[in-house]
Amino acid sequence: MNMNGDELREVFSKTDIEERIDGLSQEINRDYMGRELVVIGILKGAFIFLADIVRRLSMDVAVDFVRLSSYGSNMESSGKITFSKDIEIDIASKDVLLIEDIIDTGYTIKYLMDVLRLKSPASIKVCCLIDKVERRKVEVQAHYVGFKVDRGFLVGYGLDYNERYRHLPAIYHLNPPYSPSAYSPSDR
Ligand code: IMP
Ligand code: MG
Repeated sequence: MNMNGDELREVFSKTDIEERIDGLSQEINRDYMGRELVVIGILKGAFIFLADIVRRLSMDVAVDFVRLSSYGSNMESSGKITFSKDIEIDIASKDVLLIEDIIDTGYTIKYLMDVLRLKSPASIKVCCLIDKVERRKVEVQAHYVGFKVDRGFLVGYGLDYNERYRHLPAIYHLNPPYSPSAYSPSDR
C-alpha cells in the first residue's frame, strides 16, 4: 500500500501479531506466576504492544513508562540517548519487565537497564516486539522476543517514521520515496 508517497509492505499481519502476543504473555504468566510484576513501557513506540501484553497478564501488575529516544527524524540510531521521563513508582526489590518496541543497536535498552539497576530491583527482564539481532552494537539480549528481523525499517503497531504510521494495526516494511542514507539499498 502507498501512504504519503511512502511504499508500505505488510510483514506481520494483525493476526500474526495477536498470535505472537498470546504466546509471549503465556510465557510471562508462567515465569512470574504468583509474583508481583512492574511492567515498564518505553514511550512512545511500545504503547500499543504494552497495552496488548498487560491485558493478558494474570499476576499482580503495576504499569509505568519511561520516555527515551535515540532517534531524531532519521532512521539510524545515534547512540546518544535522551531520558525525558523517568519512572514514577518504586522498583526497589521488585521484579521488572521492560517493554520495548524494537531492539536495534541495543543502545537504548542497555542504557535503560543500567540506569534502572541503580534503583535495586529484584530482577530486570526485557520483552521486545521486534529484535533486529544482526544490527546489534552492544551486548544485550531480550528474554521475550516477538519477532526476529534482520533488515529494513518497520512501521505500524506503535512504530513510527517521523511520527507517522503508529496507529496502523499491522507491521509494515517502509520504503520512503527518497532512500535515507542510514540504510544502503542492499539493506532493504
Ligand atoms: P536502538 O537504541 O538502536 O536499539 O534503537 C531502538 C529504538 O529505535 C527503538 O526503541 C525504536 O523506537 C527505534 N527503531 C529502531 N528500528 C526501528 C524501525 O525499524 N522502525 C521504527 N523505529 C525503530
Ligand atoms: Mg522506541
